[in-house]
Amino acid sequence: MIFRYRYGTPFPTEAVVLEVPLETGNPPGFQVQRTAEGGLSLSARLHAGEVLCGLGENVRGINRRGWIFENNPMLGNAHAESRPSRFTVQNALIAVGKNCYGFFVDAPAGITFDLGCTDPEVMCICSEDGNLDFYLFTGDTPVEVVRELRRLIGRSYVPPKWAFGYGQNRWRYHSAEDVRTVADRMKEAGIPLDAIYLDIDYMKDYQDFTVDEDRFPDMPAFAKEMRERGIHLVAIVDSGMIIKEDDPVCREGIEKGYFCKDETGKEFIGAAWTGNVYLPDMLNPEARNWFGRQYQKLMDQGIDGFWNDTNDLSLFYSPEQRKKIMTVFGSPTLSMQLDGDDYFHLLDLCRKMQSADRLYKDIYHNVNGKKVSHRLGHNLYGLHMMRGVARAMQELVPERRVMQLAKISYYGTHRYGGTWTGDNSSWWSHLLLNIHQMVSLNVAGSLYSGGNIGGFNENCTHDLLQRWLEFGVFMPLMRNHSTKTSRRQEPYEFRHSALYARTIALRYSLIPYIYSEFMKAVLEDGMYFRPLVFDYPEDEKAAETEDQLMVGSSIMIAPVYQPNTNSRNVYLPEPMKLLRLRAFDDYDMEDLPQGDRRISCALGEILVFLKQNCLLPMCPPAANIASLDERHLKVFANLRRGEGAEYCLYQDDGETKELNRPEHFHRLYCDAYGWLSADTEELTLEKA
Ligand code: GLC
Repeated sequence: MIFRYRYGTPFPTEAVVLEVPLETGNPPGFQVQRTAEGGLSLSARLHAGEVLCGLGENVRGINRRGWIFENNPMLGNAHAESRPSRFTVQNALIAVGKNCYGFFVDAPAGITFDLGCTDPEVMCICSEDGNLDFYLFTGDTPVEVVRELRRLIGRSYVPPKWAFGYGQNRWRYHSAEDVRTVADRMKEAGIPLDAIYLDIDYMKDYQDFTVDEDRFPDMPAFAKEMRERGIHLVAIVDSGMIIKEDDPVCREGIEKGYFCKDETGKEFIGAAWTGNVYLPDMLNPEARNWFGRQYQKLMDQGIDGFWNDTNDLSLFYSPEQRKKIMTVFGSPTLSMQLDGDDYFHLLDLCRKMQSADRLYKDIYHNVNGKKVSHRLGHNLYGLHMMRGVARAMQELVPERRVMQLAKISYYGTHRYGGTWTGDNSSWWSHLLLNIHQMVSLNVAGSLYSGGNIGGFNENCTHDLLQRWLEFGVFMPLMRNHSTKTSRRQEPYEFRHSALYARTIALRYSLIPYIYSEFMKAVLEDGMYFRPLVFDYPEDEKAAETEDQLMVGSSIMIAPVYQPNTNSRNVYLPEPMKLLRLRAFDDYDMEDLPQGDRRISCALGEILVFLKQNCLLPMCPPAANIASLDERHLKVFANLRRGEGAEYCLYQDDGETKELNRPEHFHRLYCDAYGWLSADTEELTLEKA
């Protein structure tokens, strides 16, 4: 059930798609108070053992208890444990414990979630703006509660099927030749590949919707060549548009009033790292649809997908701030020795230059003719950017799914595209963080998501990349990405590339399962990744287990996320069959009872635990998704004595949008004696 409580006159965020009648009074169990500054606080008791999951891709574990979180995405927001907020703004939590419930605070303003940090037994949600909708969800199980939340915010985005293949990325594939070399070396190393991502280097002077013709002399021909090799090009688009007076897109944006304004009504000029930019006003429907229509220029060049960046604006400073600091730097006293005061004054000025949130009050949106401060619009910017792009795609290619990613998002963005979790580092702790982030993104319906495999900043090592790939095999978005200054991180750059090749090939072998489970999660408003506590809410140990995940209906995974180890502890909440996978035709199996185990797992092995009375279909690997033969399946089964099992397989053309057609669903059966059959003659099944 969904209940809605309204306070004041909330700003229409357009995060929800369902009209829910208003309740009177306050949500049961919550105390509501107005704050002196015009905000609102809602507090509730936290019970012993209660687990709180959600709040997007934040740091500090799956269970959010014991910390204060905020919802303020901005540049430089490293994935550090001390940071209160990350890129996604997903103001919802699911509580699992004595009661099972969830809530979503629909308000674009700044909110702090004190989840038992100040007082371990109290949760306090404090919104700086007193105008908000508070939705409460109930259900018999945690997944039922999530289903209610998703009924409210709408069905998740589905990318084309090729986007489930392996993607290679690095900031600084500088030319067509660079990209071709990546494709060649991946092939030489026998590594399957479906996509190469183009970072800002493909653009002419970082100008959106342009291609540098010196470095990519004939992009349409190059994109065609890549597509013929089974590789799709996915291009980055930044929200800020470099200011160039002779650029027709900029000129049109100014003429039509499509950019954000300053206090005086002039175009706001922001300093992004690519240069001075105008900011398309994504909160204005006309402006965002205009921005979205510009993508046609890149599609005409043969680009097949987009990763939409800087949805937090990513501003460094305003021209005024810069002037102030340059005056100080230019002062003659600076050339002499600095005394303590000067030193700290300078440091402070530089530090303030970094806090882009100080600029938000100087930026204005046009929402239905009304001037709205970016202080309110900040958290919604990414959502509306993705809306504009999705709508344009619907007009440009109505019959086809288009690959879309965003980094910053408010609730609702999951309807328009997937999410990558931004600039992580090549740290073992960030591999574990990636595992945690997948849960909260799934709560929010961001099912097509993934972190930068191998880590973006810093230098990756061969074993970290291998272990990250072993987890990445299960992430719907499987993309290796690194920054331009780090050690090269393409799998062929390391000595044992055959190991990576086998692991990535396993991803392709698992596609019948991964794609089926993903599609069923979308169509049933369910979750592809779940924490153990969602499936075993009564089990205290499951509630404490944060380094294993349930993936789809049949399996649990336990990735290795520490260096120099060939084993790990695993908790089995029920008896399961362990599949230790090295390759499609190289694995061992073992039946394990419920309980704790130390399980060996050498580099290159993936631990998959098959639940009782469940099936896992796999197919032979291939060079890319389009070449997979998914008609001949090998099926792993874990049967209780005397019982059979059934599996619902989903297969479609991977491109078109009619997802729910009955012919996409097939039943696989395994009887108590292990005999396999399917409800269609098109499938042949072999027992593993
Ligand atoms: C941002 C993105 C990163 C990209 C870089 C350059 O840091 O998060 O993925 O490589 O910008 O465009």
